Amino acid sequence: MSLHESVEIPKVVIVGHVDHGKSSLIGRLMYDLGEVPSEKYEELKLVSEKRGMEFEYAFLLDALQAERDQGITIDTTQIFFKTKKRKYVFIDAPGHKEFIRNMITGASSADIAVLIIDGHEGLKEQTKKHAYLLKLLGLDNVICLFNKMDKINYDERKFLKVREKLHQFTTSIGINITATVPVSAKCGDNIVNKSKNLGWYNDKTFCDILDTYDINKDSDKLPLRLPVQDIYKIDDKRVIVGRIETGELKLNDELFFLPSNETVKLKSFEAWPEAKKKYISGDNVGFTIEDQIFIDKGNLISHLTSRPKLMNTFEANLFWLSEKKLKVNKQYLMKINTGEYNIFISQVSKVIDTNNLNSKNSSLSPEKNDVCEVIIHSSQLIPMDDFKDNQKTGRFCILDEEKIIAGGIINLQNFPDQKDVIQTKNIKPVSFSVTEIDRALRFNHRSAIIWMTGLSGSGKSTIAKEIEKKLFLKNYNVFVLDGDNLRAGINRGLGFTTEDRTENIRRTAEVARLFSQAGFIVIVSLISPYISERKKARDIRPEIFKEIFIKASIDECKKRDVKGFYSKAISGEIENFTGISSPYEDPKHPDLILNTEKESIEESVKKLENFIIKEFGMTNNS
Ligand code: ADX
Repeated sequence: MSLHESVEIPKVVIVGHVDHGKSSLIGRLMYDLGEVPSEKYEELKLVSEKRGMEFEYAFLLDALQAERDQGITIDTTQIFFKTKKRKYVFIDAPGHKEFIRNMITGASSADIAVLIIDGHEGLKEQTKKHAYLLKLLGLDNVICLFNKMDKINYDERKFLKVREKLHQFTTSIGINITATVPVSAKCGDNIVNKSKNLGWYNDKTFCDILDTYDINKDSDKLPLRLPVQDIYKIDDKRVIVGRIETGELKLNDELFFLPSNETVKLKSFEAWPEAKKKYISGDNVGFTIEDQIFIDKGNLISHLTSRPKLMNTFEANLFWLSEKKLKVNKQYLMKINTGEYNIFISQVSKVIDTNNLNSKNSSLSPEKNDVCEVIIHSSQLIPMDDFKDNQKTGRFCILDEEKIIAGGIINLQNFPDQKDVIQTKNIKPVSFSVTEIDRALRFNHRSAIIWMTGLSGSGKSTIAKEIEKKLFLKNYNVFVLDGDNLRAGINRGLGFTTEDRTENIRRTAEVARLFSQAGFIVIVSLISPYISERKKARDIRPEIFKEIFIKASIDECKKRDVKGFYSKAISGEIENFTGISSPYEDPKHPDLILNTEKESIEESVKKLENFIIKEFGMTNNS
């Protein structure tokens, strides 16, 4: 890698349905730009005539490629061309199937995306899949070419009709069409030369649009994101190198590193022959910092304002690329920015039909080229951004046996940032070698926090005792954390004021976290009367937290009065008694309701057992 090399030749990717004229378009463009020797053109025309075939511009491309293939040094996956303004490169020569993979891994990234649609045939399923793929690759500014206009007699109305349909679709997936050009690759309309056949179209040709395209316009405005590629030791200096994905980097900047959560000042840029004072997105940089901190490949650097998030659970949209089936709970390798992490997919929430963006109801098992919504877990903390905020650092790919099987974009809306939750000043969590996945595989079930909330006397402890026994007999590692018991130990000294209950809930949630990390199904039995505090408990491990509402009315509980506390509370002997002199907030959206007023204890326990086994069981524990 050469340092400080700026992107000068825009990389263009063209996608679209296989028959919609991609090769012809490139062939025609090259021809009209004078990039193809006229002898070659004449020769191919002659050959076509002899064979009784109509000449196609796609042949030119094939011929050019065939020639290049003979020279070993020329990269056949790239086709360079030059307009009056600048040089370009197509990074996806037709027939080159690796381009999607290359783009997903970041081995190559396009600056300009072109979607080609047959004006006659209109939008096909493949067109929509490709549009979706562009979105997934972070290319949401797209030039759209309506090809084969000659086939529809250059009819403006037909063009407008297809364009309307396209806009409807692209808007629904969040793609911005920057230009739509009616063209004919075959006849050379609006490719390089303005078409006489399309008098009603007053805008730029495809080539002019390319030439006026500002390829850096978005990345510079975003906050700094610099994934660490490597650390070089040059003499006694440690030089950190990487490519600025977005934003700017200047001398003396305070840099924030994730996952270490540390802040250090940038000391010097290392460049030859002379370093600049500022670098921008797309630049490869090498620099030193003032203090020595632990830095590794995969770390993500930002400024202190606008920091990336640090996640171990997140949602993602995956583009499934493999013939192999997605396996829930299987360990895969995730590559994001410059880092690699072990992850597993705990849930496929939806398989999206790219035709209409509805979910395919029939199956939650994505097939090749399907898009699906999933929840992903990692035992390591991964610095990342929501794709909505940063398209460069908000996407990743998943590998299995060293092959890319999926590309994805990140949605961080529903899970909490771990940066502030887990990291405390001067404390650095150690990651152990036995991971939760290892334990889950050994125990044959995932860990869980089954949080039972409800009034005193609603039946929490009774259900907890029963469910513990049942699951234990089925070989589950299960343990009950009961409010009364904990109050005799770890929560000793806490009373029933709001503050004390809040602390009681917090500690219980932390103990539940530890048990869950040890691979247990933790059954919590705690009044936990406040929605806000239960939400905090959930946020500690949202991916395995289930809120179970043990429902019984206050009148019923008073009637039961198993411990005799209600009568004491009513007579004022006990203060702040939940439901009498202290509030209880019903859960708004519990994961499960067990109504002990309507159903027997056996029924409630059976319901809970089925729920736990469905959500957290794996195999063999029946
Ligand atoms: S919580 O509100 O802090 O979640 P927790 O579940 O730990 O309560 O404890 C509730 C148990 O403490 C009840 O089952 C009851 O036996 C006992 N208790 C004693 N005083 C009170 C009170 N003022 N309010 C509720 N429960 C009480």
